Amino acid sequence: MEDDLNVRRARRSDLREIYLIEVNSFPYPYPIEAFLTFLILYPQYFLVAEHNNSIVGYVIGSIDSDGTGHIISLAVHPSYRGKGVGKKLLLTVEKIMKENGIHRIKLEVSINNKAALALYKSVGYKVVGMERSYYPDGSDAYVMFKELSN
Ligand SMILES: CC(C)(COP(=O)(O)OP(=O)(O)OC[C@H]1O[C@@H](n2cnc3c(N)ncnc32)[C@H](O)[C@@H]1OP(=O)(O)O)[C@@H](O)C(=O)NCCC(=O)NCCS
Repeated sequence: MEDDLNVRRARRSDLREIYLIEVNSFPYPYPIEAFLTFLILYPQYFLVAEHNNSIVGYVIGSIDSDGTGHIISLAVHPSYRGKGVGKKLLLTVEKIMKENGIHRIKLEVSINNKAALALYKSVGYKVVGMERSYYPDGSDAYVMFKELSN
């Protein structure tokens, strides 16, 4: 799987497949227009994982006004989870941010999202706080940071 997995920049023509993963991954999906906006604003940090010509996952990153990298979204197609796709997407976008001089990365994750929390902790993110009522259903998010070492 790892060997056949290609991580590359997203293209406009990928957006339909990306959106299908989004709606199958989140109770409150972003509108499809948001994906186009991130693709226009941060093309270097919007990556897809491709397997046999299908998009099986994506990650969207941005840069906050203080220069901190931000993981906006990360999702893997339900049939491709647990095979290292999410980790590869995350580490690839981190590497690109680091090459561009970014020193730390922030993200928010639902306190109930065990898989994502385990992934983020396994690659060095630390919980630094909590955003109450972060999600539309009133549930909370952890705020996590990772310092990118030299
Ligand atoms: C979170 C998500 C992106 C993980 O992607 P994935 O490709 O399945 O994860 P990986 O196979 O790369 O897993 C990497 C590590 O994460 C952890 N992990 C992943 N899924 C896990 C699970 N279901 N339970 C516990 N730990 C898990 C493990 O530590 C794993 O390492 P290991 O396989 O060596 O044990 C995926 O489950 C997903 O798309 N979920 C729905 C969307 C979502 O919640 N996105 C995150 C929003 S903040």
